Amino acid sequence: MIKMIDLPYALTDLEPYYSEETLKLHYEVLYKGYVDNTNKTHEKLILARNNNDFSNIKCLEKNLSFFGSGAILHKLFFENLTPAHKDIPNLTLMQQIIHDFGSYAKFKNQFTAASISVEASGWCLLVWVPEFNRLEILQCEKHQDLTLWGCKPLLVLDMWEHSYYLQYKTNRESYINAIWNIINWEVVSNRFKNK
Ligand SMILES: [Fe+2]
Repeated sequence: MIKMIDLPYALTDLEPYYSEETLKLHYEVLYKGYVDNTNKTHEKLILARNNNDFSNIKCLEKNLSFFGSGAILHKLFFENLTPAHKDIPNLTLMQQIIHDFGSYAKFKNQFTAASISVEASGWCLLVWVPEFNRLEILQCEKHQDLTLWGCKPLLVLDMWEHSYYLQYKTNRESYINAIWNIINWEVVSNRFKNK
């Protein structure tokens, strides 16, 4: 059974960049739903194996990927935000960003553009790709489509409407510009260090 993480800050702490109303709904309802549905899917898979009844297996495998990826990405998302303005990567990650993207500004511009243009509901991610031995930026649709196998997510940004609509309506760019102020680069840098 997987469990929700505790938020590493209070619901009001990310104001004014990320409103209490949005964070409360996002954490208490949406994230909880992905964790609960992942656990339910695991239970159904145990039942299917015990009964040797795989008539619904296609749906169960699909749900495992969707809800499981949703649970994982939301955990990473809440963890990589902070009210403490840890606003630049550490030296090691910064050097890798400059090596792989040309400069921090170019990375930031690509990440912002990729986030804004995520199709429908999805995510934007900074990932480490061991097979390529480099950082990449990925757009993800839903929670699981358009990945590179084996990549390690370092920084994830939720581009589902539930993550910004209450506060920013349809203005994705304003949402992303606000989020840059509350990225926890210490967490992101540690993920890179432990890749
Ligand atoms: Fe979300």
